[in-house]
Amino acid sequence: MSAAFPLVPGVAVSSSAEIAQILANPGFGVYFTDHMAQADWTAEAGWQDSRIGPYEPFSLPPGGAVLHYAQEVFEGLKAYRRADGSVWLFRPELNARRLIRSAERMDLPALPEEAFLASVEGLVRADAAWVPERDEETLYLRPFIFASEAFLGVRSARQVVYAVVASPSGAYFASGFRPIDIWVTSSFSRAGAGGTGAAKCGGNYASGLLASKEAAAHGCGQVLFTDAAEHEWVEELGGMNVFFVTSDRRLLTPAVGNILEGITRQSVLELAPEFGLAPEARPISLTELKAAIWSRDITEAFACGTAAVITPIARFLFDDESAGAEAEAALAEPQGEMTQALRRRLVDIQWGRASDPGGWTRRVI
Ligand code: PLP
Ligand code: COI
Repeated sequence: MSAAFPLVPGVAVSSSAEIAQILANPGFGVYFTDHMAQADWTAEAGWQDSRIGPYEPFSLPPGGAVLHYAQEVFEGLKAYRRADGSVWLFRPELNARRLIRSAERMDLPALPEEAFLASVEGLVRADAAWVPERDEETLYLRPFIFASEAFLGVRSARQVVYAVVASPSGAYFASGFRPIDIWVTSSFSRAGAGGTGAAKCGGNYASGLLASKEAAAHGCGQVLFTDAAEHEWVEELGGMNVFFVTSDRRLLTPAVGNILEGITRQSVLELAPEFGLAPEARPISLTELKAAIWSRDITEAFACGTAAVITPIARFLFDDESAGAEAEAALAEPQGEMTQALRRRLVDIQWGRASDPGGWTRRVI
């Protein structure tokens, strides 16, 4: 396929007054822009008909395979408007490569990296008026691939759609960047060996919804999943990776394998040495975690991801009714120095307020 996503002429666009009204209070993932990118794939012809057209419903037959067997993968990234009006992406090539890995795991066709970048950049240009100007607000971009073929036999689809939609967004948590509590589930699992934990596929999120509901019922902002076999090894949160800071300046996070290899996670690991933090990506048990929080060896913890950026964690609550006071582990420094410093460094790179030695940002407009 050609990597180009040409703009379909004549798409009706919102007035600047309508956009301004939405941008006054965008929330997260509630409103969608005027355009979407799309390309269609068939087993015979490959990717074709790539374009930026109107944001409109798909024409999907009720027999469409994604509705039955959830053959679907997605990505999440943001467009940032800087003080000078220019608009930038953050490490989008890593999203492109992760979408390829996710697609391979779900036996969907891989979209070439250049096509991914062209689709995302084309959409941001078409909907430039929707990129917020206020600090901490972005245009959230959601690329996805799904099985559109009407067929109920269980096999990989021979017709597939790739699309990108965009949603102007503020903070993911309604509480902004205030510390959240985390519900540690020992009854639900997100991923197991050989499963789809490392892929960004919709099914992972569907299977986590009940655990997220349980977390919310206990006042927690996210659920923490542990390994499926023993419920002892820390994995990740419902929609974010998790980090711990120790009093002797180590930065701990679970090793990859069954978890999503977050781009924010990777960036935080790469930034850690700037702050004198030694990164350690390795297995972390609940036993170690509880003991280290109680003894103040672990002083800070945070969630990180594209949507969450870096959100501090106040407490871990364990779903063990018999544990009494031990069912809770509260961080000594929930708004700790290291969490704040890493967050500041990350957002300053994203908004072009700090040097970007790794060349992580990419100008679109
Ligand atoms: N883990 C899960 C389950 C996620 O949904 C996300 C969000 O995308 C992440 C981790 C963080 O990934 P990233 O930093 O690439 O957004
Ligand atoms: C993201 O951070 O981009 C995600 O996909 C996670 C979700 C909580 C929106």
